[in-house]
Amino acid sequence: MQRTLIWDLPTRLFHWTLALSFVGAWLTSEGDQWHSIHVFLGYLALGMVSFRLVWGLMGSHFSRFSSFWFSPKEALSYLSEVMAGHAKRHVGHNPTGSWAIYILLALTVLLGVTGILTLGGDEQQGVAAGWLNFGQIQTLKKLHELTAIVMLLVVMGHLAGVVVESVQHQENLARSMLTGFKMTEDSTPVAQSRGRVALLMALVMAVFSGWWFYYAIDEQMDSMSWYSKLESGSDDELHVKFIGKQLPDNKQWRDECGSCHAVFYPALLPSRSWKKMMAEQDQHFGSDLGLDGPTAAALLKFLTDNSADQQITEAAFKIGQSIPKNATPLRITETPYWLKKHHEITAADWANPLVKSKNNCAACHTDADAGSFEDAAMRIPKPPQAASAPVPTKVKP
Ligand code: HEC
Ligand code: HEC
Repeated sequence: MQRTLIWDLPTRLFHWTLALSFVGAWLTSEGDQWHSIHVFLGYLALGMVSFRLVWGLMGSHFSRFSSFWFSPKEALSYLSEVMAGHAKRHVGHNPTGSWAIYILLALTVLLGVTGILTLGGDEQQGVAAGWLNFGQIQTLKKLHELTAIVMLLVVMGHLAGVVVESVQHQENLARSMLTGFKMTEDSTPVAQSRGRVALLMALVMAVFSGWWFYYAIDEQMDSMSWYSKLESGSDDELHVKFIGKQLPDNKQWRDECGSCHAVFYPALLPSRSWKKMMAEQDQHFGSDLGLDGPTAAALLKFLTDNSADQQITEAAFKIGQSIPKNATPLRITETPYWLKKHHEITAADWANPLVKSKNNCAACHTDADAGSFEDAAMRIPKPPQAASAPVPTKVKP
């Protein structure tokens, strides 16, 4: 028996980076403040898997797929041998472990793809921004979560396998994945480490980090400058760009519906509400809009084409979901979702002269005009007297 290098450095780095990114992604899956880290770990895991696929073809002996290419039947019979306590020792991956690897690789790809699509539709961020609307990604989001749970189960199975095997064959498999070494017969092929490999891995990492810096850090910086402006109190030039696709716009609608109040984006009410509102345009909250037939028809078309039913934004989706099927509200401010989202705002904030009315959406939502109502674009203005209050000076003892 001799001490032989079985797992080459790239394979070990791959293994632990993937494991840590999976754990990290679990821990950061809830809560907006962790969101960009979660996304980064997702990209990283995808990068790792792409590396592993290449490495499975050109890595050292035990890292190659050809060295652990077993049929499902072999995997199952090996599993029953392990259960019975007389499984043969494999220096490389055993048949059952091999299948855990293939399944984990496939699940990571599925997680990455559903994650990118969800990010695109949910937050309008990343490569898939604007590909799908908020409504369409709800199923994908569920699939993303479900895949993560399945992956966790496979990981636990893999860990159980490592423990059982380590006990049965009296060797610490986790440690050999750290050091790379195992005790073997003389004839066992040795893993060579190659310089080119490290280069390849660095390249893959660079591409994926570049991707991350390009999409995520850029967005992160935007929201950070938003915070710093807010904290310094000079929010006059507050500007948060709507990341992702631009929502459809219409000049006629801005002219006709923006003369008495700021326009309310069509996505904030379902089609049936707009139909009712336009049918009753001669008694629009006490005023007669006096629109002629073709104008009213053109406006109605824009309103219904982009209504809450089309689910183009998160707000559209959630407002639409919140309205009972038999209700046709004419006020956005009376829809259950709007009421739920605004009930914690204090009377003092509503009374703020910069707000005046709850219809003054743009007072708090800097993207109200564009219609997107992103979380990041919301801020409650400070009452003017608070802004002009004398700055407390430090009193020296
Ligand atoms: C002649 C002035 C006028 C014009 C033009 C006008 N509105 Fe209004 N609109 C009002 C008034 C007044 C209210 C009630 C405001 C209030 O109660 O705070 C109102 C309220 C609304 C509300 C309810 C807001 C809420 O959630 O409380 C919607 C939606 C609305 N208008 C849509 C439209 C659309 C669409 C058009 C264009 C077809 C339009 N308005 C054109 C005067 C106008
Ligand atoms: C006084 C400030 C204020 C005004 C005015 C205001 N909002 Fe809001 N709005 C908020 C706050 C604060 C939240 C965030 C609540 C939360 O995070 O749970 C919010 C959340 C929302 C959301 C949910 C965003 C999301 O996460 O999906 C929508 C949609 C929305 N507002 C629409 C409107 C519309 C439409 C109007 C005008 C008719 C309006 N708001 C007027 C303060 C305001």
